[in-house]
Amino acid sequence: MIGSANGTRIGITGLGVHVPDRVVTNDDLAQYVDTSDEWIVERTGIHERWMATDDEALTDIALPAARAALADAGIQASEIDLLICATVTPDMMFPTSSALMADELGMPHAAAYDLLAGCTGFMYAVAQAYGMLAAGLSRRALVVGGDVLSKILDWDDRSTLVLFGDGAGAVVMEPVARGGFLGFELGADGGGGVHLQYPGSGSRTFENPESMLKMNGREVFKFATRVMVSSAEAVLAECGKTIQDVDVYVPHQANKRIIDYAVGKLGVPKERTVVNVERFGNTSSGSIPLALADARADGRLHEGSLVLMTGMGAGLTWGSALLEWTNGRSA
Ligand code: ACO
Repeated sequence: MIGSANGTRIGITGLGVHVPDRVVTNDDLAQYVDTSDEWIVERTGIHERWMATDDEALTDIALPAARAALADAGIQASEIDLLICATVTPDMMFPTSSALMADELGMPHAAAYDLLAGCTGFMYAVAQAYGMLAAGLSRRALVVGGDVLSKILDWDDRSTLVLFGDGAGAVVMEPVARGGFLGFELGADGGGGVHLQYPGSGSRTFENPESMLKMNGREVFKFATRVMVSSAEAVLAECGKTIQDVDVYVPHQANKRIIDYAVGKLGVPKERTVVNVERFGNTSSGSIPLALADARADGRLHEGSLVLMTGMGAGLTWGSALLEWTNGRSA
């Protein structure tokens, strides 16, 4: 799916993020599996990640992010009429995490649902919220992206354990006077889905039920390096922009090597690229809002800055959005 904005200016007016308190270093993980800080840093760029404790679930880390986004936008929860939560690790399948959060936050007028698109979930959710807002179905949306992948990791599998972390981010989206989203490109390839699976997690039963994340790292790496480039190029072309126009590039934080490859292929200057995978690992649906928040904290998001975001993940899925950053909203 590809499309440019229909002329309705919808932007991000609030941004909030949250990670659990527990930091887990590469050396910590070396106590569970045969790995080393040197291997993990060289192959992934990751130094540490944050992980939930046994009694913490998705909404425990997503709610603080949501509250921070609402405060940042300067609005009350009751003013939200759409809440989409992108996650593959909800508290439970139902009630949905979004319904639980809408209740907890106090959003009596909000439609609330979870969205499942792997690590690309946040990009899908943002595109969907844009559509609802631009169509006039929603007036103000809260989009949450977050995961607690530590709960579904196989703690005996060194090739997946070292990659992931827990975290969440949230954005308020609403009409803005200037800037806003310019376009989106989203895609999926279920044929490649086998390379990143969570078998035994749904209605398909298996002879030998499995409840852990499984990944063919090399295949996902090949897929990732391909779509991180093709999706970004597609949305740029759709919106009549070039990579030279991009002020801030926010790629999914899966692996520093994947980001470096995409940066080189796209030709985006390194100083315009946001990288924080070394501190968080791959937080799945939390990754892009966490990176966006870092970009803002570093003073990189200015009025009119052109922001390119690209995610990829299980499905297999990918998605990009082009956004002209704005600090204001419409009257
Ligand atoms: N520590 C030490 N050695 C390890 C580790 C580890 N943690 N993991 C694997 N190895 C070993 C392997 O067993 C292998 O040993 P062998 O040669 O004796 O068989 C060797 O290291 C090389 O393994 P490769 O798989 O070739 O390593 P590679 O350089 O491809 O890196 C990695 C592996 C980091 C997983 C890489 O393939 C990758 O990043 N893939 C993409 C993963 C990704 O981004 N997934 C998230 C998608 S988003 C979502 O929706 C969740």
